[in-house]
Parts: sequence; C-alpha cells; structure tokens
Amino acid sequence: VTDASEGFVDAGPAASLAAGEMRLVHLPCGRPVAIYNVDGDFFATDDTCSHGQASLSDEGMLLEHKIICAWHGGAFDVRTGEALDLPCMDRIRSYAVVEQAGELRLQVQPK
Ligand code: FES
Repeated sequence: VTDASEGFVDAGPAASLAAGEMRLVHLPCGRPVAIYNVDGDFFATDDTCSHGQASLSDEGMLLEHKIICAWHGGAFDVRTGEALDLPCMDRIRSYAVVEQAGELRLQVQPK
C-alpha cells in the first residue's frame, strides 16, 4: 500500500523478518528493494546487484552489515549501498526503513 503523502510504502511485519534475514519488497515504480534485519536494526537497498542481475535478497548472503552477492562474490554495505568487494564497483541505492506499530515502512526516495 502506498502512502504518497508520507512517501513510504508498507514493507511487512517487523516480527516476521528475523535477525540475519532479508525480504523482497517493491517500490510503486516496480523497483525491487531488499530489506535486511541486522541484529534488530532494519536497512534497505536496491535488490539488484550493480554488477549483474542477481537478486541480493533471494541469493545473497547477509553477514552483519555486508550483503554478499551469490553470483560473483561482490558485496555491499546494507547501511549505505556502498560497494565493498570486487567485482562490484558501483554503489546501489539505500533507503530508510522505519518501524511503526510493528509494521516496517520503506521510504520511496533513496537516501
Ligand atoms: S552479479 Fe553480483 S557480483 Fe556479479
């Protein structure tokens, strides 16, 4: 559900996204975004790797604040979208996630 006035979209219940896990959501434009739970803190980045078309939430491995792409081992910081390991060189977008009454809300505009 889109709340255009606030610029946030629903990203599902916080309780069903356990620490160390990821969830795929879509922006109103259709762009896929990965939501991460890192020790109880929620972060979001583009779901698609900047090196290829891999889905980070589907195939990646989350190690603390690092999401490692399964295709070629590149990695990003889930807090900023910054590329951390080759062959990834271009950053991906990162987004704000807030928790309201147990529901995660994803900001549509990237940080
Ligand atoms: S597609 Fe992600 S590292 Fe190559």
